Amino acid sequence: MYKAAILVASDSSSEGRRSDLSGAAIRDILLKYENFTASDPVILPDDRPVLAAKMRQLADEEAFDLILTTGGTGFSKRDVTPEATLDVVERRAPGIAEAMRQLSLQITPRAMLSRAEAGIRGDTLIVNLPGSPKAVQETLDYILPSVEHGLDILQGRDADCAR
Ligand code: MTE
Repeated sequence: MYKAAILVASDSSSEGRRSDLSGAAIRDILLKYENFTASDPVILPDDRPVLAAKMRQLADEEAFDLILTTGGTGFSKRDVTPEATLDVVERRAPGIAEAMRQLSLQITPRAMLSRAEAGIRGDTLIVNLPGSPKAVQETLDYILPSVEHGLDILQGRDADCAR
């Protein structure tokens, strides 16, 4: 069983001006998987040090296996989730974000505007998802089986890639 944390980067949701739909969408999808538990979404402003500090806490103190972020991967000046992620990961895992972009480009060319990152900090994998519930629904089911296998390898449970 892997513990997944959901981190929503959104100025408007953190100020209560908009309800969080993307974090809730992530949670709904995770709950379908018997090998993942899902936290309640944590909603924070689009602030690089604040997001990085929360990722460090979730990984190092709360021992989450997986941190899924949503929001803040685009081109707005306030979109800093990838930068906060790179501040905390020790090793990048670019294939996960590349796979989401490749899949998403078949749905919308706007997917090329996602600057999402993914990477590893200790025993924790951090993955940036794009910020709309639609985009979450389009991408999360695609990556989760491979994310689970990556966690198996990262945490020494399974080194066999023949699946
Ligand atoms: N990916 C999928 N699968 N579906 C989408 O609708 N929207 C794109 C992209 N990725 C989209 C997607 C758009 S319009 C933007 S601007 C970027 O994600 C960044 O979104 P974010 O800033 O909300 O993270």
